[in-house]
Amino acid sequence: MNILILGGGGREHSLAWAVKQNPKCDRLIVAPGNAGIAAIAECADLDIENGGAVANFAEENAIDFVIVGPEAPLAAGVTDRLEAAGLTVFGCSQAAAQLEASKAFTKEICDASGAPTAGYARFDEADLAKEYIHLQGAPIVVKADGLAAGKGVVVAMDEATALAAIDDMFGGAFGAAGAEVVIEEFMEGEEASLFVLCDGQDVLPIGTAQDHKRVGEGDTGPNTGGMGAYSPANVLDNNVLDKAMDQIIRPTVAEMARRGTPFKGVLYAGLMIKDGQPRLVEYNVRFGDPECQVLMMRLGAQALDLMQACAEGRLAEMRVNWADDHAMTVVMAADGYPGSYEKGSVIKGLDDLPESSFEICFHAGTSQKDGQVIATGGRVLNATARGATLQEARDRAYALVDQIDWPQGFCRRDIGWRALE
Ligand code: AMP
Ligand code: GLY
Repeated sequence: MNILILGGGGREHSLAWAVKQNPKCDRLIVAPGNAGIAAIAECADLDIENGGAVANFAEENAIDFVIVGPEAPLAAGVTDRLEAAGLTVFGCSQAAAQLEASKAFTKEICDASGAPTAGYARFDEADLAKEYIHLQGAPIVVKADGLAAGKGVVVAMDEATALAAIDDMFGGAFGAAGAEVVIEEFMEGEEASLFVLCDGQDVLPIGTAQDHKRVGEGDTGPNTGGMGAYSPANVLDNNVLDKAMDQIIRPTVAEMARRGTPFKGVLYAGLMIKDGQPRLVEYNVRFGDPECQVLMMRLGAQALDLMQACAEGRLAEMRVNWADDHAMTVVMAADGYPGSYEKGSVIKGLDDLPESSFEICFHAGTSQKDGQVIATGGRVLNATARGATLQEARDRAYALVDQIDWPQGFCRRDIGWRALE
């Protein structure tokens, strides 16, 4: 089978690594890929948000199966275009991508399906939004409706912060994404992520994880795309998982099908859990990054069979073969991230790192220049490992970090602290 993966971050490196272990995989192309992916797959320069260009490329290269990594091509309708060309695609339709692309849409789906989530109101005008904030009081959460690269959410602990967020959003700080805002009740609890494959009808949970969104140790400082993750998330135990599947995931999937826009692909539910009860924070319509890295570490080669069955509507016949293990990934980022950072610093020591089914350093923002690996993004490397216990996975992951020679990079030293305390 010839496989094309769209994307070039740590998520896509881990997808490529897992897919490559499956004997079904003959040829593997990743667009655009990165320096780490280039060691295990062909990398192609391709505008991955242009469905026509991807379809032509897939035809020229006799691709049998396309896996879409990030949300932008999904929201741009690349899956629809590829399926129209007869390709098998792991990734949802443009209509279903609304679950991530519009927070207001997701709230409507929650209302229609009865999925527990924060109370909310929608506004397309600043004055009424501010009046609502005065009435509700803080803490309160202000969200730009559209895709804002993870930055369109302000959790305001006081009213002034919430009002300033309204000015920012209607002032155009998030472009078109902020033309409408959703104001939500602040939910207390512990967050965890649930990943579920959906083929439009059937659902199959394929793992839980906990991300570390803040840049600083002890979960302090500004939000990032994620500084590390581990799986499974112990707060999402079987009891909470059953509730999340019955009260949130299945009703959502049923409502999407009822509307004629079935969800096919991976549904990533961000959950807030309090007293054993999950509530939905948000949906994403793709794997998390870096959560994908720990899921792929645990699933290995079967990930390809699962994604293929999902794309072909055969999930009912699939089971996940779980090992009783734990995985952790530690993100190494460029100094300054998530603020401004320099590109082009040289990373050494990568060639000598151990690599096995228990440990690997996935690449995120890297490229190859003059025979060296250089940093080209904010989040740059993902030291990833698994073990019989979370502590074992963590020791292995940090052992990888400590062998990497990159003075311009940093990482959090406390990934997994909630679970290990
Ligand atoms: P989102 O982009 O919707 O995931 O929001 C980013 C982060 O803001 C989430 O991971 C939560 O930590 C936090 N957040 C979002 N909505 C709420 C809410 N209603 N109550 C408390 N925290 C929230
Ligand atoms: N790690 C959070 C995300 O992928 O959205």
